[in-house]
Amino acid sequence: MNDLLAIADLSAPQLQQLLQLAGTIKNNPKAYQQALQGKSIALLFEKPSLRTRASFAAGINRLGGHSIYLDAASLIGERESAADVGANLACWHDAIVARVFSQQTLTELAEAADKPVINALSDLCHPCQALADLLTLEENLGPLAQLNVVWIGDGNNVCHALMGAAALAGMTLQIATPDGYAPDPELLAAAQQQAAAHGGSISVVHSLAQLQPCDAIYTDTWFSMGQQRDANQVMQDFAPFQVNTALMQQLSAKAFLHCLPAQRGREVTANVLDGEQSLVLKQAENRLHAQNAILVTLLGANADD
Ligand code: CP
Ligand code: NVA
Repeated sequence: MNDLLAIADLSAPQLQQLLQLAGTIKNNPKAYQQALQGKSIALLFEKPSLRTRASFAAGINRLGGHSIYLDAASLIGERESAADVGANLACWHDAIVARVFSQQTLTELAEAADKPVINALSDLCHPCQALADLLTLEENLGPLAQLNVVWIGDGNNVCHALMGAAALAGMTLQIATPDGYAPDPELLAAAQQQAAAHGGSISVVHSLAQLQPCDAIYTDTWFSMGQQRDANQVMQDFAPFQVNTALMQQLSAKAFLHCLPAQRGREVTANVLDGEQSLVLKQAENRLHAQNAILVTLLGANADD
């Protein structure tokens, strides 16, 4: 494993190892205080971020490493190609964490840099989020292969990442999107194949009435960064797909997930997002632990003793 550009880069055992390591580091942080000592990580972001940026910076600190933040919007493009940025960063840094508009930019960075590149969100995938989500589901609801999760809303980057990770973990994932907003067909087909191979399943429907009871409901914004969509049309198309108390009850869901940031009253009501069943802050906390497991793995670091 040289880079983490998408969940599809992982095998099922690699996913399990990352989740296990995330739990180990979370429960015994002192043992990893020097894991990245002397290492420098570049955080290269083309789009805004709270959780990803702040959790990578704090997590790298906890591992004894150092990070710098670079505003990629002013660096990649007219000024310099992604390949040139990647090749240069690799001269000084031990890894590159990149949030980009296009997955292609990650590919170009990774090809040019002889250091690990980690996807911190692209148009296609958000693997760090999915790892934190599976860690959160396992900690709060039990063994992943026994879980049935419903994704409601846009078939977007977070949905793609969850789909890929759920497939490797043998979960049951029901996806409900408005017509025309389904996940990428190629990524869906690949995830369905993986799910079947690992004892799980992934289905897509376009009406909430077709959903079966589940353990948890997951949703995300109706307006992802970088999407060029008609806002009025989106509001109209997604209106029936709001997560609210009635839907939580209809599907007997025990837990609610959202990657955040969320719009209360739009994709989810305030009483669900802020309610007892909400795991959103546990997901946010677990971003740091999941990402530290990725860094320790990709940089070949070890516990201090
Ligand atoms: N969930 C997530 O990636 O949040 P940010 O966009 O704030 O990093
Ligand atoms: N789907 C959202 C996730 C934000 C963390 C976006 O891409 O903007």
